[in-house]
Amino acid sequence: MESYLVTGGQPLEGEVTVSGAKNVALKVLIAGLLTDEEVKIENVPLISDLFALAEIIKELGGKVEIFSSHTMVINASTLHSSSVTNLSFGKLRASFLLLIPLLVRFRQAKIPLSGGDKIGVRPIDRTINGLTKMGIELDYGDGYYGASVKKITSTHYKFAKNTHTGTEALIMMSALTPGKTVLENAAQEPEVDDLIKFLNSMGAKIKRTKARTIEITGVVKLHGTHFKIMSDRNEVVTFALAAILTKGKISIKAVVHSHLRTFYQSLKNSGIKIKTSKDVLLIDGTVRPIFSSQIATSFYPGFMTDWQAPWVLLMTQAEGVSQMHEKVFENRFGYVRELVKMGAKIVPVEINSQDYNFNQQDDNQDNFHAVEIVGPTKLQGQDLIIPDLRAGATLVLAALTAGGRSRLYGIEHIDRGYENFSQRLKLLGAKIERVSGI
Ligand code: EPU
Repeated sequence: MESYLVTGGQPLEGEVTVSGAKNVALKVLIAGLLTDEEVKIENVPLISDLFALAEIIKELGGKVEIFSSHTMVINASTLHSSSVTNLSFGKLRASFLLLIPLLVRFRQAKIPLSGGDKIGVRPIDRTINGLTKMGIELDYGDGYYGASVKKITSTHYKFAKNTHTGTEALIMMSALTPGKTVLENAAQEPEVDDLIKFLNSMGAKIKRTKARTIEITGVVKLHGTHFKIMSDRNEVVTFALAAILTKGKISIKAVVHSHLRTFYQSLKNSGIKIKTSKDVLLIDGTVRPIFSSQIATSFYPGFMTDWQAPWVLLMTQAEGVSQMHEKVFENRFGYVRELVKMGAKIVPVEINSQDYNFNQQDDNQDNFHAVEIVGPTKLQGQDLIIPDLRAGATLVLAALTAGGRSRLYGIEHIDRGYENFSQRLKLLGAKIERVSGI
Protein backbone atom coordinates (compact mmCIF):
# COMPACT_ATOMS: atom_id res chain seq x y z
CA MET A 1 0.00 0.00 0.00
CA GLU A 2 1.32 3.43 -0.91
CA SER A 3 0.75 6.61 1.08
CA TYR A 4 2.00 10.19 1.27
CA LEU A 5 4.15 11.45 4.09
CA VAL A 6 3.79 15.20 4.35
CA THR A 7 5.50 17.71 6.62
CA GLY A 8 3.55 20.95 6.65
CA GLY A 9 4.47 24.57 7.09
CA GLN A 10 6.50 25.17 3.93
CA PRO A 11 5.36 28.07 1.68
CA LEU A 12 4.92 26.80 -1.89
CA GLU A 13 6.68 28.95 -4.45
CA GLY A 14 7.47 28.80 -8.13
CA GLU A 15 5.79 27.90 -11.39
CA VAL A 16 3.49 25.08 -12.34
CA THR A 17 1.78 24.21 -15.61
CA VAL A 18 -1.68 22.70 -15.45
CA SER A 19 -2.40 19.44 -17.29
CA GLY A 20 -5.04 18.74 -19.87
CA ALA A 21 -8.54 18.34 -18.45
CA LYS A 22 -9.32 14.89 -17.05
CA ASN A 23 -13.02 15.27 -17.75
CA VAL A 24 -12.34 16.01 -21.40
CA ALA A 25 -9.63 13.40 -21.94
CA LEU A 26 -11.89 10.55 -20.81
CA LYS A 27 -14.80 11.69 -22.98
CA VAL A 28 -12.65 12.30 -26.04
CA LEU A 29 -11.19 8.81 -25.73
CA ILE A 30 -14.72 7.41 -25.84
CA ALA A 31 -15.92 9.75 -28.61
CA GLY A 32 -12.85 8.78 -30.65
CA LEU A 33 -14.46 5.35 -31.06
CA LEU A 34 -17.20 6.89 -33.20
CA THR A 35 -14.91 6.72 -36.25
CA ASP A 36 -12.86 4.02 -37.94
CA GLU A 37 -10.15 6.51 -38.75
CA GLU A 38 -7.18 7.47 -36.59
CA VAL A 39 -7.69 10.10 -33.89
CA LYS A 40 -4.73 11.89 -32.35
CA ILE A 41 -5.12 13.85 -29.13
CA GLU A 42 -2.62 16.24 -27.58
CA ASN A 43 -2.38 17.46 -23.99
CA VAL A 44 -3.75 14.32 -22.35
CA PRO A 45 -3.11 14.03 -18.62
CA LEU A 46 -1.24 10.85 -17.63
CA ILE A 47 -3.73 9.79 -14.96
CA SER A 48 -4.89 6.35 -13.85
CA ASP A 49 -8.53 6.88 -14.93
CA LEU A 50 -7.37 7.39 -18.51
CA PHE A 51 -5.13 4.31 -18.45
CA ALA A 52 -7.97 2.23 -16.97
CA LEU A 53 -10.39 3.37 -19.67
CA ALA A 54 -7.80 2.66 -22.38
CA GLU A 55 -7.47 -0.91 -21.05
CA ILE A 56 -11.23 -1.43 -21.22
CA ILE A 57 -11.26 -0.24 -24.84
CA LYS A 58 -8.32 -2.46 -25.77
CA GLU A 59 -10.24 -5.45 -24.39
CA LEU A 60 -13.03 -4.55 -26.83
CA GLY A 61 -10.52 -4.65 -29.71
CA GLY A 62 -9.80 -0.90 -30.03
CA LYS A 63 -6.24 0.42 -30.24
CA VAL A 64 -5.19 3.10 -27.77
CA GLU A 65 -1.66 4.32 -27.27
CA ILE A 66 -0.79 6.90 -24.64
CA PHE A 67 2.69 8.43 -24.86
CA SER A 68 4.77 10.21 -22.23
CA SER A 69 4.60 13.26 -24.52
CA HIS A 70 0.92 13.54 -23.46
CA THR A 71 -0.27 12.39 -26.87
CA MET A 72 -2.89 9.70 -27.29
CA VAL A 73 -3.64 7.85 -30.52
CA ILE A 74 -6.93 6.01 -30.90
CA ASN A 75 -7.90 3.66 -33.67
CA ALA A 76 -11.26 1.94 -33.36
CA SER A 77 -11.28 0.21 -36.76
CA THR A 78 -10.55 -3.09 -35.02
CA LEU A 79 -13.23 -2.78 -32.32
CA HIS A 80 -14.93 -6.19 -32.24
CA SER A 81 -16.95 -6.47 -29.04
CA SER A 82 -20.00 -4.64 -27.78
CA SER A 83 -19.99 -6.21 -24.37
CA VAL A 84 -17.88 -4.85 -21.49
CA THR A 85 -16.83 -7.20 -18.72
CA ASN A 86 -13.75 -5.38 -17.33
CA LEU A 87 -14.10 -4.97 -13.58
CA SER A 88 -12.48 -1.53 -13.37
CA PHE A 89 -15.40 -0.22 -15.47
CA GLY A 90 -17.48 0.31 -12.37
CA LYS A 91 -14.98 2.74 -10.88
CA LEU A 92 -15.29 5.27 -13.70
CA ARG A 93 -18.28 7.56 -13.98
CA ALA A 94 -17.38 8.44 -17.57
CA SER A 95 -17.39 4.79 -18.60
CA PHE A 96 -21.18 4.78 -19.00
CA LEU A 97 -20.57 6.87 -22.12
CA LEU A 98 -18.99 3.81 -23.78
CA LEU A 99 -22.53 2.64 -24.36
CA ILE A 100 -22.87 5.27 -27.11
CA PRO A 101 -20.06 4.29 -29.53
CA LEU A 102 -20.84 0.61 -28.93
CA LEU A 103 -24.49 1.20 -29.83
CA VAL A 104 -23.51 3.24 -32.89
CA ARG A 105 -21.08 0.57 -34.11
CA PHE A 106 -22.92 -2.64 -33.17
CA ARG A 107 -26.57 -1.53 -32.70
CA GLN A 108 -26.42 -3.22 -29.31
CA ALA A 109 -24.27 -2.98 -26.19
CA LYS A 110 -23.89 -4.41 -22.72
CA ILE A 111 -22.04 -2.54 -19.99
CA PRO A 112 -21.77 -2.88 -16.22
CA LEU A 113 -23.22 -0.28 -13.90
CA SER A 114 -20.76 2.62 -13.73
CA GLY A 115 -19.80 4.38 -10.55
CA GLY A 116 -17.08 6.95 -10.02
CA ASP A 117 -16.25 8.75 -6.80
CA LYS A 118 -18.42 7.89 -3.81
CA ILE A 119 -19.89 11.36 -3.58
CA GLY A 120 -23.51 10.38 -4.07
CA VAL A 121 -25.72 7.72 -5.65
CA ARG A 122 -25.00 9.11 -9.14
CA PRO A 123 -27.99 7.79 -11.08
CA ILE A 124 -28.28 8.20 -14.87
CA ASP A 125 -32.05 8.55 -15.22
CA ARG A 126 -31.76 11.81 -17.20
CA THR A 127 -29.56 10.13 -19.82
CA ILE A 128 -31.73 7.05 -20.01
CA ASN A 129 -34.87 9.13 -20.53
CA GLY A 130 -33.18 11.00 -23.39
CA LEU A 131 -31.84 7.86 -25.07
CA THR A 132 -35.23 6.18 -24.74
CA LYS A 133 -36.84 9.18 -26.41
CA MET A 134 -34.49 8.62 -29.35
CA GLY A 135 -35.74 5.05 -29.70
CA ILE A 136 -33.04 3.16 -27.85
CA GLU A 137 -34.23 0.21 -25.80
CA LEU A 138 -32.52 -0.09 -22.45
CA ASP A 139 -32.88 -2.57 -19.65
CA TYR A 140 -31.01 -3.21 -16.45
CA GLY A 141 -30.42 -6.49 -14.64
CA ASP A 142 -27.70 -8.31 -12.67
CA GLY A 143 -25.47 -5.23 -12.58
CA TYR A 144 -25.52 -4.70 -16.36
CA TYR A 145 -27.24 -2.30 -18.74
CA GLY A 146 -28.30 -3.85 -22.00
CA ALA A 147 -29.17 -1.55 -24.89
CA SER A 148 -30.24 -2.05 -28.46
CA VAL A 149 -31.41 0.10 -31.28
CA LYS A 150 -33.71 -0.84 -34.13
CA LYS A 151 -34.75 2.57 -35.35
CA ILE A 152 -33.21 5.73 -34.00
CA THR A 153 -34.75 9.17 -34.39
CA SER A 154 -33.61 12.69 -33.73
CA THR A 155 -35.49 14.33 -30.91
CA HIS A 156 -36.27 17.41 -28.86
CA TYR A 157 -35.32 16.64 -25.28
CA LYS A 158 -35.33 18.80 -22.18
CA PHE A 159 -33.16 17.63 -19.28
CA ALA A 160 -35.10 17.71 -16.00
CA LYS A 161 -31.97 19.05 -14.23
CA ASN A 162 -28.35 19.72 -15.18
CA THR A 163 -26.24 16.71 -16.07
CA HIS A 164 -22.71 17.06 -17.37
CA THR A 165 -22.07 13.47 -18.55
CA GLY A 166 -25.72 13.04 -19.55
CA THR A 167 -25.50 16.00 -21.92
CA GLU A 168 -22.34 14.52 -23.42
CA ALA A 169 -24.06 11.15 -23.94
CA LEU A 170 -26.94 12.67 -25.86
CA ILE A 171 -24.65 14.90 -27.93
CA MET A 172 -22.55 11.88 -28.95
CA MET A 173 -25.61 9.80 -29.80
CA SER A 174 -27.24 12.54 -31.87
CA ALA A 175 -24.05 13.38 -33.78
CA LEU A 176 -24.63 10.33 -36.00
CA THR A 177 -28.45 10.26 -35.83
CA PRO A 178 -30.23 11.55 -38.95
CA GLY A 179 -32.19 14.79 -38.50
CA LYS A 180 -31.95 17.62 -36.01
CA THR A 181 -31.81 16.97 -32.28
CA VAL A 182 -32.36 19.82 -29.85
CA LEU A 183 -31.21 19.47 -26.24
CA GLU A 184 -32.69 21.94 -23.79
CA ASN A 185 -31.50 22.67 -20.29
CA ALA A 186 -28.24 21.07 -21.44
CA ALA A 187 -25.07 21.38 -19.36
CA GLN A 188 -22.91 24.38 -20.09
CA GLU A 189 -19.65 23.18 -18.54
CA PRO A 190 -16.53 24.16 -20.56
CA GLU A 191 -15.63 20.46 -20.75
CA VAL A 192 -18.89 19.83 -22.65
CA ASP A 193 -17.96 22.59 -25.10
CA ASP A 194 -14.51 21.08 -25.60
CA LEU A 195 -16.13 17.74 -26.44
CA ILE A 196 -18.38 19.55 -28.94
CA LYS A 197 -15.28 21.15 -30.47
CA PHE A 198 -13.66 17.73 -30.74
CA LEU A 199 -16.72 16.15 -32.39
CA ASN A 200 -17.02 19.07 -34.82
CA SER A 201 -13.37 18.57 -35.74
CA MET A 202 -14.42 15.02 -36.75
CA GLY A 203 -17.13 16.40 -39.03
CA ALA A 204 -20.07 16.58 -36.61
CA LYS A 205 -22.54 19.48 -36.80
CA ILE A 206 -23.15 20.62 -33.25
CA LYS A 207 -23.80 24.14 -32.04
CA ARG A 208 -24.87 25.85 -28.87
CA THR A 209 -27.72 28.11 -29.98
CA LYS A 210 -28.43 29.53 -26.52
CA ALA A 211 -26.64 29.22 -23.21
CA ARG A 212 -28.35 25.93 -22.29
CA THR A 213 -29.60 24.80 -25.71
CA ILE A 214 -27.59 22.62 -28.08
CA GLU A 215 -28.59 21.78 -31.63
CA ILE A 216 -27.15 18.73 -33.36
CA THR A 217 -27.65 17.95 -37.03
CA GLY A 218 -26.84 14.30 -37.56
CA VAL A 219 -24.17 13.38 -40.10
CA VAL A 220 -23.63 10.02 -41.81
CA LYS A 221 -19.99 9.55 -40.83
CA LEU A 222 -17.31 11.04 -38.59
CA HIS A 223 -13.68 11.13 -39.67
CA GLY A 224 -10.29 11.09 -37.94
CA THR A 225 -8.87 14.21 -36.37
CA HIS A 226 -5.96 15.82 -34.54
CA PHE A 227 -7.12 17.71 -31.46
CA LYS A 228 -5.66 19.41 -28.39
CA ILE A 229 -7.77 19.25 -25.26
CA MET A 230 -8.28 22.22 -22.94
CA SER A 231 -6.50 22.78 -19.61
CA ASP A 232 -7.91 21.40 -16.39
CA ARG A 233 -9.69 24.12 -14.42
CA ASN A 234 -9.69 22.01 -11.26
CA GLU A 235 -5.90 21.85 -11.23
CA VAL A 236 -5.77 25.64 -11.40
CA VAL A 237 -7.96 25.86 -8.32
CA THR A 238 -5.89 23.24 -6.48
CA PHE A 239 -2.57 25.03 -7.06
CA ALA A 240 -4.05 28.48 -6.41
CA LEU A 241 -5.39 27.38 -3.04
CA ALA A 242 -2.10 25.61 -2.29
CA ALA A 243 -0.33 28.99 -2.64
CA ILE A 244 -2.79 30.77 -0.35
CA LEU A 245 -2.96 28.08 2.32
CA THR A 246 0.81 27.80 2.61
CA LYS A 247 1.33 31.59 2.34
CA GLY A 248 3.37 31.12 -0.81
CA LYS A 249 3.41 32.57 -4.31
CA ILE A 250 2.68 30.43 -7.35
CA SER A 251 2.57 31.30 -11.00
CA ILE A 252 0.15 28.92 -12.71
CA LYS A 253 0.54 28.46 -16.45
CA ALA A 254 -1.75 27.24 -19.28
CA VAL A 255 -4.80 28.69 -17.54
CA VAL A 256 -8.05 29.49 -19.39
CA HIS A 257 -9.22 32.48 -17.35
CA SER A 258 -12.73 32.55 -18.84
CA HIS A 259 -13.46 29.14 -17.22
CA LEU A 260 -12.59 30.46 -13.78
CA ARG A 261 -14.45 33.76 -13.46
CA THR A 262 -16.56 32.62 -10.52
CA PHE A 263 -13.51 31.26 -8.73
CA TYR A 264 -11.59 34.51 -9.26
CA GLN A 265 -14.55 36.51 -7.95
CA SER A 266 -14.71 34.30 -4.85
CA LEU A 267 -10.99 34.84 -4.25
CA LYS A 268 -11.40 38.59 -4.57
CA ASN A 269 -14.38 38.57 -2.21
CA SER A 270 -12.17 36.82 0.35
CA GLY A 271 -9.49 39.47 -0.02
CA ILE A 272 -7.02 37.40 -2.03
CA LYS A 273 -4.90 39.14 -4.62
CA ILE A 274 -4.57 37.64 -8.07
CA LYS A 275 -2.87 38.82 -11.23
CA THR A 276 -3.68 37.47 -14.64
CA SER A 277 -1.88 37.76 -17.94
CA LYS A 278 -2.32 35.84 -21.20
CA ASP A 279 -2.61 32.27 -19.86
CA VAL A 280 -0.95 32.81 -16.48
CA LEU A 281 -2.48 33.21 -13.04
CA LEU A 282 -0.24 34.64 -10.36
CA ILE A 283 -1.34 34.05 -6.79
CA ASP A 284 0.13 35.94 -3.90
CA GLY A 285 -0.91 33.86 -0.93
CA THR A 286 0.90 35.88 1.72
CA VAL A 287 -1.92 38.37 2.26
CA ARG A 288 -3.94 38.05 5.46
CA PRO A 289 -6.63 38.24 6.68
CA ILE A 290 -8.68 35.97 4.47
CA PHE A 291 -12.35 36.99 4.68
CA SER A 292 -15.06 34.45 5.41
CA SER A 293 -17.55 33.49 2.68
CA GLN A 294 -21.03 32.09 2.12
CA ILE A 295 -21.04 29.89 -0.96
CA ALA A 296 -23.40 27.38 -2.58
CA THR A 297 -22.12 25.09 -5.31
CA SER A 298 -23.87 24.97 -8.64
CA PHE A 299 -23.44 23.93 -12.25
CA TYR A 300 -21.51 26.19 -14.66
CA PRO A 301 -21.07 29.13 -14.47
CA GLY A 302 -21.65 28.77 -10.73
CA PHE A 303 -19.14 27.82 -8.04
CA MET A 304 -18.12 24.31 -9.06
CA THR A 305 -18.78 21.36 -6.76
CA ASP A 306 -15.21 20.12 -7.37
CA TRP A 307 -13.90 23.29 -5.65
CA GLN A 308 -16.10 22.79 -2.61
CA ALA A 309 -13.67 20.72 -0.49
CA PRO A 310 -10.53 22.83 -1.01
CA TRP A 311 -12.56 26.00 -0.42
CA VAL A 312 -13.90 24.67 2.89
CA LEU A 313 -10.27 24.03 3.83
CA LEU A 314 -9.40 27.60 2.84
CA MET A 315 -12.17 28.88 5.08
CA THR A 316 -10.58 27.14 8.08
CA GLN A 317 -7.93 29.85 7.66
CA ALA A 318 -10.40 32.72 7.16
CA GLU A 319 -11.57 35.17 9.84
CA GLY A 320 -15.03 34.44 11.22
CA VAL A 321 -17.85 32.14 10.24
CA SER A 322 -18.17 30.78 6.71
CA GLN A 323 -20.79 28.59 5.14
CA MET A 324 -20.66 26.08 2.29
CA HIS A 325 -23.81 24.59 0.80
CA GLU A 326 -23.28 21.61 -1.55
CA LYS A 327 -26.13 21.52 -4.04
CA VAL A 328 -24.80 19.31 -6.85
CA PHE A 329 -23.94 15.99 -5.16
CA GLU A 330 -25.86 14.73 -2.16
CA ASN A 331 -22.90 13.29 -0.27
CA ARG A 332 -19.72 15.27 -0.88
CA PHE A 333 -18.52 16.13 2.61
CA GLY A 334 -16.68 12.83 3.27
CA TYR A 335 -13.43 14.67 3.99
CA VAL A 336 -14.84 16.90 6.76
CA ARG A 337 -14.21 14.40 9.58
CA GLU A 338 -10.53 14.26 8.52
CA LEU A 339 -10.19 18.05 8.68
CA VAL A 340 -11.91 18.04 12.07
CA LYS A 341 -9.31 15.49 13.26
CA MET A 342 -6.69 18.07 12.30
CA GLY A 343 -8.34 20.71 14.47
CA ALA A 344 -10.68 22.40 11.98
CA LYS A 345 -13.93 23.77 13.37
CA ILE A 346 -16.51 22.55 10.87
CA VAL A 347 -20.04 21.49 11.75
CA PRO A 348 -23.00 20.40 9.62
CA VAL A 349 -25.83 22.92 9.43
CA GLU A 350 -29.35 22.68 8.07
CA ILE A 351 -30.38 25.03 5.32
CA ASN A 352 -33.86 24.82 3.91
CA SER A 353 -33.63 24.33 0.17
CA GLN A 354 -35.41 22.42 -2.57
CA ASP A 355 -33.05 23.68 -5.20
CA TYR A 356 -30.70 20.69 -5.54
CA ASN A 357 -29.11 19.25 -8.68
CA PHE A 358 -29.46 15.69 -7.37
CA ASN A 359 -32.83 13.94 -7.27
CA GLN A 360 -34.34 14.45 -3.85
CA GLN A 361 -35.51 10.80 -3.73
CA ASP A 362 -31.86 9.65 -3.90
CA ASP A 363 -31.01 11.59 -0.77
CA ASN A 364 -30.30 9.67 2.41
CA GLN A 365 -31.32 11.20 5.73
CA ASP A 366 -27.77 10.74 7.08
CA ASN A 367 -26.39 13.09 4.42
CA PHE A 368 -25.85 16.71 5.24
CA HIS A 369 -25.70 19.40 2.58
CA ALA A 370 -24.14 22.38 4.28
CA VAL A 371 -21.39 23.11 6.77
CA GLU A 372 -20.36 26.05 8.89
CA ILE A 373 -16.66 26.72 9.29
CA VAL A 374 -15.18 28.86 12.05
CA GLY A 375 -11.71 30.20 11.42
CA PRO A 376 -8.91 30.78 11.56
CA THR A 377 -7.70 27.57 13.18
CA LYS A 378 -4.24 26.09 13.36
CA LEU A 379 -4.29 22.65 11.78
CA GLN A 380 -2.20 19.81 13.15
CA GLY A 381 -0.74 16.89 11.15
CA GLN A 382 -2.61 13.56 11.41
CA ASP A 383 -3.10 10.17 9.79
CA LEU A 384 -5.69 10.89 7.13
CA ILE A 385 -7.94 8.72 4.98
CA ILE A 386 -8.82 10.00 1.52
CA PRO A 387 -12.45 9.32 0.55
CA ASP A 388 -12.46 10.59 -3.07
CA LEU A 389 -10.44 12.45 -5.69
CA ARG A 390 -11.04 16.14 -4.90
CA ALA A 391 -11.11 15.40 -1.18
CA GLY A 392 -7.72 13.75 -1.66
CA ALA A 393 -6.13 16.85 -3.14
CA THR A 394 -7.76 18.86 -0.35
CA LEU A 395 -6.31 16.68 2.38
CA VAL A 396 -2.84 16.97 0.84
CA LEU A 397 -3.24 20.76 0.93
CA ALA A 398 -4.43 20.50 4.54
CA ALA A 399 -1.33 18.48 5.44
CA LEU A 400 0.88 21.08 3.75
CA THR A 401 -0.87 23.83 5.74
CA ALA A 402 -0.70 22.02 9.08
CA GLY A 403 2.02 21.94 11.67
CA GLY A 404 3.85 18.62 11.96
CA ARG A 405 3.62 15.44 9.95
CA SER A 406 0.67 13.79 8.24
CA ARG A 407 0.31 10.46 6.57
CA LEU A 408 -2.31 10.13 3.86
CA TYR A 409 -3.87 6.82 2.91
CA GLY A 410 -5.96 6.17 -0.20
CA ILE A 411 -3.72 8.17 -2.52
CA GLU A 412 -4.86 6.09 -5.49
CA HIS A 413 -7.88 8.42 -5.53
CA ILE A 414 -5.51 11.29 -6.33
CA ASP A 415 -3.73 9.31 -9.08
CA ARG A 416 -7.09 9.04 -10.84
CA GLY A 417 -7.14 12.72 -11.66
CA TYR A 418 -3.81 14.45 -10.96
CA GLU A 419 -0.69 13.59 -12.92
CA ASN A 420 2.42 13.33 -10.74
CA PHE A 421 0.79 15.34 -7.97
CA SER A 422 3.42 14.88 -5.29
CA GLN A 423 6.30 15.49 -7.70
CA ARG A 424 4.81 18.74 -8.90
CA LEU A 425 4.19 19.91 -5.33
CA LYS A 426 7.75 18.99 -4.45
CA LEU A 427 9.04 21.21 -7.24
CA LEU A 428 7.15 24.05 -5.53
CA GLY A 429 8.96 23.30 -2.27
CA ALA A 430 6.53 20.92 -0.57
CA LYS A 431 7.86 18.32 1.81
CA ILE A 432 5.96 15.32 0.49
CA GLU A 433 7.10 11.75 -0.13
CA ARG A 434 5.29 8.85 -1.71
CA VAL A 435 6.11 5.82 0.39
CA SER A 436 5.34 2.09 0.20
CA GLY A 437 4.38 -0.22 3.06
CA ILE A 438 2.12 0.18 6.04
N1 EPU B 1 -27.86 13.16 -11.60
C1 EPU B 1 -29.01 12.44 -11.51
N2 EPU B 1 -29.47 11.81 -12.63
C2 EPU B 1 -28.78 11.86 -13.81
C3 EPU B 1 -27.60 12.60 -13.89
C4 EPU B 1 -27.15 13.26 -12.75
O1 EPU B 1 -29.63 12.37 -10.45
O2 EPU B 1 -29.25 11.25 -14.78
C5 EPU B 1 -27.35 13.88 -10.41
C6 EPU B 1 -25.98 13.36 -9.95
O3 EPU B 1 -26.13 12.25 -9.10
C7 EPU B 1 -25.42 14.57 -9.26
C8 EPU B 1 -25.95 15.73 -10.11
O4 EPU B 1 -27.11 15.24 -10.77
O5 EPU B 1 -25.91 14.68 -7.97
C9 EPU B 1 -24.96 16.23 -11.17
O6 EPU B 1 -24.53 15.16 -11.98
P1 EPU B 1 -23.75 15.35 -13.37
O7 EPU B 1 -24.30 14.31 -14.29
O8 EPU B 1 -23.82 16.77 -13.78
O9 EPU B 1 -22.26 15.04 -12.96
P2 EPU B 1 -21.32 13.92 -13.55
O10 EPU B 1 -21.39 13.98 -15.02
O11 EPU B 1 -21.55 12.66 -12.86
C10 EPU B 1 -19.22 15.40 -13.88
C11 EPU B 1 -17.78 15.24 -13.54
C12 EPU B 1 -17.59 15.51 -12.05
C13 EPU B 1 -18.07 16.93 -11.74
C14 EPU B 1 -19.54 17.09 -12.19
C15 EPU B 1 -20.03 18.51 -12.06
C16 EPU B 1 -17.03 13.57 -15.10
C17 EPU B 1 -16.54 12.19 -15.32
N3 EPU B 1 -17.36 13.89 -13.85
O12 EPU B 1 -19.90 14.43 -13.11
O13 EPU B 1 -16.20 15.44 -11.79
O14 EPU B 1 -17.99 17.16 -10.36
O15 EPU B 1 -19.67 16.71 -13.58
O16 EPU B 1 -19.42 19.34 -13.00
O17 EPU B 1 -17.09 14.36 -16.02
C18 EPU B 1 -14.27 14.96 -10.55
O18 EPU B 1 -13.62 15.21 -11.58
O19 EPU B 1 -13.73 14.78 -9.44
C19 EPU B 1 -15.72 14.85 -10.66
C20 EPU B 1 -16.47 14.28 -9.72
